[in-house]
Amino acid sequence: MTDRVYIEDVFQHKIPDGSDVILRGWLYNKRSSGKLLFLLVRDGTAVIQATVYKPGVSAEIFETADKLTQEASLTVIGKIKKDERAPGGYELQVTDVKLIGQSVDFPITPKEHGPEFLMDYRHLWLRSKNQHAILRVRHTIIKAIRDFFDGRGFTLVDTPIFTPAACEGTSTLFETDYFDTKAFLTQSGQLYAEAGALALGKVYCFGPTFRAEKSKTRRHLTEFWMVEPEVAFNELKENMELAEDFIEYIVQTVLRTRVEELKTLGRDTTKLQNVRAPFPKIHYDEAVKILEDAGLKFEYGNDFGSPDETAISEKFDRPVIVHHYPSAIKAFYMKRDPNEPDKALAMDVLAPEGYGEIIGGSQREDNYDMLVSRIKEHNLPMEAFDWYLDLRKYGSVPHSGFGLGVERTVAWICGLQHVRETIPFARMIHRLKP
Ligand code: 4AD
Ligand code: MG
Repeated sequence: MTDRVYIEDVFQHKIPDGSDVILRGWLYNKRSSGKLLFLLVRDGTAVIQATVYKPGVSAEIFETADKLTQEASLTVIGKIKKDERAPGGYELQVTDVKLIGQSVDFPITPKEHGPEFLMDYRHLWLRSKNQHAILRVRHTIIKAIRDFFDGRGFTLVDTPIFTPAACEGTSTLFETDYFDTKAFLTQSGQLYAEAGALALGKVYCFGPTFRAEKSKTRRHLTEFWMVEPEVAFNELKENMELAEDFIEYIVQTVLRTRVEELKTLGRDTTKLQNVRAPFPKIHYDEAVKILEDAGLKFEYGNDFGSPDETAISEKFDRPVIVHHYPSAIKAFYMKRDPNEPDKALAMDVLAPEGYGEIIGGSQREDNYDMLVSRIKEHNLPMEAFDWYLDLRKYGSVPHSGFGLGVERTVAWICGLQHVRETIPFARMIHRLKP
């Protein structure tokens, strides 16, 4: 009997040399040389060279193989043969080929295409080698995120997507009709994760978040995935330590398990090897000093723009944590430092190599009266936050957390220019399709 196998299993020596097998997949590419026809067949796990030797098969089979076009789906039957010269170390000596589905004029050819064209055909672009590598690294990052928190006894608390109010400022809210009222797509699960932390101690939420980002940048999507841990009794210091251990774990897991994919992407991993805790931690004032010393124009009190973040991170050989941002530029829920009342107990993690902020977090305001006045200062609707204020009425404790953006993390680890390639189907200001 001939078994259906996956190419990956062949390359991992799980199928004995000489076995007769069935492969199902798509034609990646094709070339011929005399009596030989080389079909590059992909099945989603890898690409194998399937060789059709004209005198070895019937005229009909050869013709079927010869007529195959890029991305036609097919079944190939043949013998697995060890071959050092073949990519993956094995080839398939074809005995039979069956066409399953035609593919006429596949739009993405081996020639160069512009990014907008490729994004328009994103549903087909996903079939390319680099895209496979990126999606696999993304998969590993997401698994590492879950493993990290699960391994430390955190409980996953899923937070809602329809919300009654803003978490991260009103300028990026997506509004939807919700029966007779308005709902907003969540910008962050944090406020609900706080309720979870006061119930379960250590929690994380992980899901899609939405922001009506009006600017077109390399780092902004309107829909992105964020993981947000929240821990009762953690203060700023412990929050920063959790963040550095977390990033180290993610990066080292990818370096260990996605060697091939990073090679496919041409990623120089020397700088990633350095990503080990502890990370440098600098006060906002020190970060401003770096900008001044570098001769950059920067007004004290402002938030850092991306050139500023790049200049700051260039001073260090691994991610850098900036803490104590001015409270005025940060979210309403961040606790102010009693010793520096104009500063928030906030922290951002800036990735190296110009990738900018990948984590934003803080210690939370845990005092009822202070939080009420912050909500007022930010002109937020008090009635939408009554439940959130309850957390400060019934057994309030110091607590902290942060959010890591998955797409920016994937872009950094893969060394990509733009976040649009880090998610299967990107949503941006001018892109809702496919
Ligand atoms: O700094 P942000 O806005 O923090 C929060 O949302 C907090 N509520 C998190 C928390 O403390 N639980 O966003 C966190 C991270 C950023 O550092 C960035 O990596 C990512 O989310 N991010 C985006 N990624 C892609 N596109 C966007 N438009 C993003 N906005 C934020
Ligand atoms: Mg931020």
